Amino acid sequence: MRALQFTTLLTLLASASAFYLPGVAPKDYRKEAPVELAVNVLTSADTLLPYDYYYEKFHHVKPETEENKRESLGSILFGDRLHNSAFKLKMLINETCQLLGEVTVPAADAKFINLRIKEQYQHNWYVDGLPAASLVTYSDDDSDEDKYYSIGFDMGQYDHDAANPTMYLNNHYDIHIRYHSDEKNDLYRVVGILVWPYSVKSWPDKSDCIPDPKQIPTMQLSETAETKVRYTYNVFWEWSSVSWGTRWDHYLYTLDPQIHWFSIVNSIVIVFMLTGMIGMILLRALHKDIARYNTFGDEDGGQEDFGWKLVHADVFRPPTHRMLLSVLLGNGAQLLCMTGITLVFAVLGFLSPSSRGSLSTVALIFYVCFASVAGYVSARVYKMLQGEYWRRNVVMTATLVPGYVYLRFRTIRNLTHLI
Ligand SMILES: *[C@@H]1O[C@H](CO)[C@@H](O)[C@H](O)[C@H]1NC(C)=O
Repeated sequence: MRALQFTTLLTLLASASAFYLPGVAPKDYRKEAPVELAVNVLTSADTLLPYDYYYEKFHHVKPETEENKRESLGSILFGDRLHNSAFKLKMLINETCQLLGEVTVPAADAKFINLRIKEQYQHNWYVDGLPAASLVTYSDDDSDEDKYYSIGFDMGQYDHDAANPTMYLNNHYDIHIRYHSDEKNDLYRVVGILVWPYSVKSWPDKSDCIPDPKQIPTMQLSETAETKVRYTYNVFWEWSSVSWGTRWDHYLYTLDPQIHWFSIVNSIVIVFMLTGMIGMILLRALHKDIARYNTFGDEDGGQEDFGWKLVHADVFRPPTHRMLLSVLLGNGAQLLCMTGITLVFAVLGFLSPSSRGSLSTVALIFYVCFASVAGYVSARVYKMLQGEYWRRNVVMTATLVPGYVYLRFRTIRNLTHLI
């Protein structure tokens, strides 16, 4: 009976995770309904330091009324800041030559922006909860299977081959939104966003603003004088056979799963080899010791201990820093429990990447919950090592590691540009 209940529960869980769990229902749009484009922080894989999209030095065009999107705790702690934007998208309406706005960038800020372009900062936009991506090809022929979505797209282009390296600002965006619909009703769903950024100083008169993919970038920010920048965009809606339920598959596509297997096997082999080596060394030392004991025999009973026998009295001697040891052990156990259970939930499909920050939020909650594990392990170890200051142990277990982490990150003052 028990087993039956358990299998029923498991089946329920399995079917639920296949059902797209994160509590988001698909959003249907009618034709011409406004579709919002939200902007997140700018990120760079080089510096790992996020910048707010509307950080004043970027001079990005702001919408008439600014509003911040509500985010989960985990996503805020991990640096997400979502705002609305001045882009106006309407379902199924292709538009070209849309002017987002015109800004003037002073010389000092141009220097700042050029540095960020050099550091390969990327825009992170969201439409209907789906991140804007760029299409990356990893083989030479143009077949569709060899393309995958890479989240984010460059804010500028850095030409380091030129005589004097130059930075170009991307100020035109070709936004391609893929939608899906049934034949019957006229409701549409967003299933993919691709953005091609371009750097265009000015469009020729009566141009249709369709950039040539091979066009050379031209929009440069002067570091000695003011520069006027016009931000423009095109929107194209393209029908796609991808259904809403599988719209994340493109984004989560990994290049070659075999690479992971290879590195896993690699590390396992290395671990076994090292363990074997250490075992051999210990075994040899022990053999030598035993052989030596045997050759002396016991005719001169009063001989001195040597080799491994010297440590026999030390085995149960408490270490000097038993407080620190027990506190760190406790916190380690807490982290281990948190990681384990978060992994279990992630594997079961509860923490989909489509609800931003859910992974970090859940990890935080479990970290807090497992504080009791830390207390237990720490107290047990401390008692075993015959520690006396148990009150101090309690306080330090709760404060030492989190306090250190907090103070460490407090001192990174650069984070102030996250508004
Ligand atoms: C919008 O542009 C895309 C891409 O060029 C094209 O496939 C689609 O048919 C256009 N839609 C309309 C309604 O014109």
